[in-house]
Amino acid sequence: MASEIVLEQALKLLEQGSVVGLPTETVYGLAARIDRPAGIAQIFKTKARPFFDPLIVHVASVAQAQACVSQWTALADLLAAKFWPGPLTLVLPKSALIDPMITSGLTTVAVRCPRHPLALRMIQGAGVPLAAPSANRFGRTSPSLAAHVRDEFQNEVFVVDGGPCEVGIESTIVAVQGEVLKLLRPGSISIEQIEATVVEAGFSVRWEQPSSRTEAPGQMQHHYMPAKPLVILANDWPIDLLKAELAQHLSRIPDEVEGVRMMKPKSIQILREISLSADPVIAARELYQTLRETAQGPEDLLILVWPESKRTGPWLGVWDRLRKAASLHLSSGA
Ligand code: TXA
Ligand code: MG
Repeated sequence: MASEIVLEQALKLLEQGSVVGLPTETVYGLAARIDRPAGIAQIFKTKARPFFDPLIVHVASVAQAQACVSQWTALADLLAAKFWPGPLTLVLPKSALIDPMITSGLTTVAVRCPRHPLALRMIQGAGVPLAAPSANRFGRTSPSLAAHVRDEFQNEVFVVDGGPCEVGIESTIVAVQGEVLKLLRPGSISIEQIEATVVEAGFSVRWEQPSSRTEAPGQMQHHYMPAKPLVILANDWPIDLLKAELAQHLSRIPDEVEGVRMMKPKSIQILREISLSADPVIAARELYQTLRETAQGPEDLLILVWPESKRTGPWLGVWDRLRKAASLHLSSGA
């Protein structure tokens, strides 16, 4: 765990307009102060992140969130009161405080108050909100340990070690547009939980799909990809049949996906079957560590059997990550 000296050092780097690895309860972030354009630019450069993909602004209080937005509604207030500090990000119209580089020129800003005590201390210590995407190279598996961040950036990023991330997958992102709510990314806080809170408080809301790429700019089809291709099977396959099928599909496994290079296997001799906990909360916590660890072995491909029954409800957040991390999906081995 990080000491006072480490925290001071991190705050100094942020003050100087540099980036720092930030522990949160979801995943580690790559943080910069919102009032340091050089730091914001360094986030995009370090991650090789395209400038069209906006950053989440992390705040330590509702008052700080209110300063980042131009319309703080009663509905936003309700959701913040119920779920903050915690893994819920709200997208609202931005205020002049937010540099357009942070929002990729959008008129909205994503704000969240994390619940990791070190994240809160760093935001409070900086005295301004911190912009932070997940601390991984663009399109790759997100980091749930400080060591993941160090490995990802070859020790070039100073990381505040806050231990393993408790939640393990990124926050739920919801756009709040008057009475309309839009789920932009599923996470550990479910639509059902949000709906129950809203109904209990007597609000009437409608859920709608994001209408355009501008509303959900970061929602690429592929994301979170491990270094080795991941193949997801909807059910068990006899191993010989699977190998024969994979041999046929090898050419369908691309060596580059949306600009992210894959380690394309030359053969499919060695398969590594991975598994996750049967409990969705624990599966989320172990997901990224499992994808990183297994991709380091000698295997050509990672295989995961993932039934249809684990693709909705409490599994939605984990499934969203798995679906996008996979290079290939096969449905029936019968
Ligand atoms: O749990 C989390 O949210 C983590 C930790 C570090 O807080 N952060 C995170 O950031 O996942 P990132 O950059 O990896 O994902 C942020 C997502 C992106 O898909 C981005 O497009 C979307 O949030 N986003 C940011 N601002 C937005 C906006 N104004 N409108 C719509 N989507 C936005
Ligand atoms: Mg990310």
